[in-house]
Amino acid sequence: MGIKFIDDFDFKGKKVLLRVDFNVPISKGRVTDDIRIKAALKSINKILETGGSLIIMSHLGRPKGKPDPEYKLDPVAERLSYLINKPVKKLDEITGPSVRKSVSEMKPGDVVLLENIRFHPGETSNDPELAKELASYGDIYIDDAFGATHRAHASISGICSFIKEKGMGYLIKKELDNLSKVTDNPALPFITILGGAKVSGKIDLINFISNKVDLMLIGGGMMFTFLKAKGYEIGKSLLEEDKLDLAKELLENYGNKLILPVDARIVDGIDKPETLRIVKVDEIPPDAIGIDIGPETEEKFSAKILKAKTVLFNGPMGIFEEEPYSKGTQKVLESIASAKCISIVGGGDSAAAASKFGFDEVFTHISTGGGASLEFLSGKDMPGIESLK
Ligand code: 3PG
Repeated sequence: MGIKFIDDFDFKGKKVLLRVDFNVPISKGRVTDDIRIKAALKSINKILETGGSLIIMSHLGRPKGKPDPEYKLDPVAERLSYLINKPVKKLDEITGPSVRKSVSEMKPGDVVLLENIRFHPGETSNDPELAKELASYGDIYIDDAFGATHRAHASISGICSFIKEKGMGYLIKKELDNLSKVTDNPALPFITILGGAKVSGKIDLINFISNKVDLMLIGGGMMFTFLKAKGYEIGKSLLEEDKLDLAKELLENYGNKLILPVDARIVDGIDKPETLRIVKVDEIPPDAIGIDIGPETEEKFSAKILKAKTVLFNGPMGIFEEEPYSKGTQKVLESIASAKCISIVGGGDSAAAASKFGFDEVFTHISTGGGASLEFLSGKDMPGIESLK
């Protein structure tokens, strides 16, 4: 691949710039889900235990290039400090004299966390001046921010032009190794389960993966655009009107591989779970809203999943966050867990669903990247990987 790996470096006495994805949920000043922080610990501990000091950079949220108290990294620093059992010096700036001073005073084993890198307008615009300034703080750059590898930003992409010693951390390697089980010669039969709200978000994935998969099982909000494209009435269910022609085209191109639901759970309103009922997909009443796949579809999907050797789960089957509407997603995840297969779960909502139903430790791999895993699985070049080459 032409990329150096964290194990290839001697960190003794070196200042190491580490880019991580600590874009974690925070409520009332506390991190409420630290999976992404824990996922970076292996790289963090390796660098500290082998004599390096750490300057950690991360984004949090989308603060639009200026400081925003809601997105300060203080709660993240507190959580990280607890997890590594050492002080983390959280700075209130990203660049400038006070950062340079703090960095110059660092000793082996010290940890500094810069303020949210997206408070600087140069981060998302990949400003070379910012990239150069950041690079000047360290001797070695390690990228372990898998969730942000699809972003050509200054602390991910630009920085690599200004630092000679650079490589990837354990998390990125683990993600690439596991996600490649789907993109490079997957064990057959290979089944992908596609859900989520929109067809538009999955077009590139469908096109890229279509000649590798045996079947693509469709659920979630996107199923209704496909059903409409087939000529069914879908009531007031989610519809991407402008993607109908595309859905027709996908059905024409991959019709023998695209498996649509045969029944659906419907309601009269999202806030009216008491109206929940099951209908065949050609019997959806004009006023009803589809919110999940139905039990017959669950059985059909399950029978296919149980025969698979590789399964990719990308997108929930219904509004899984609401208990009455979560059955389809739960049933599909249970089937994957029962199948003797390599099971890969895309990040974001798919990972949240897997976690909600207690499958954190069950699947082969649950990605820490939402958009990043989707783009990787769609065969796209990832700026965060390319720039390490
Ligand atoms: C994510 O949460 O998917 C990553 O942290 C990337 O965040 P972004 O979509 O705001 O770039």
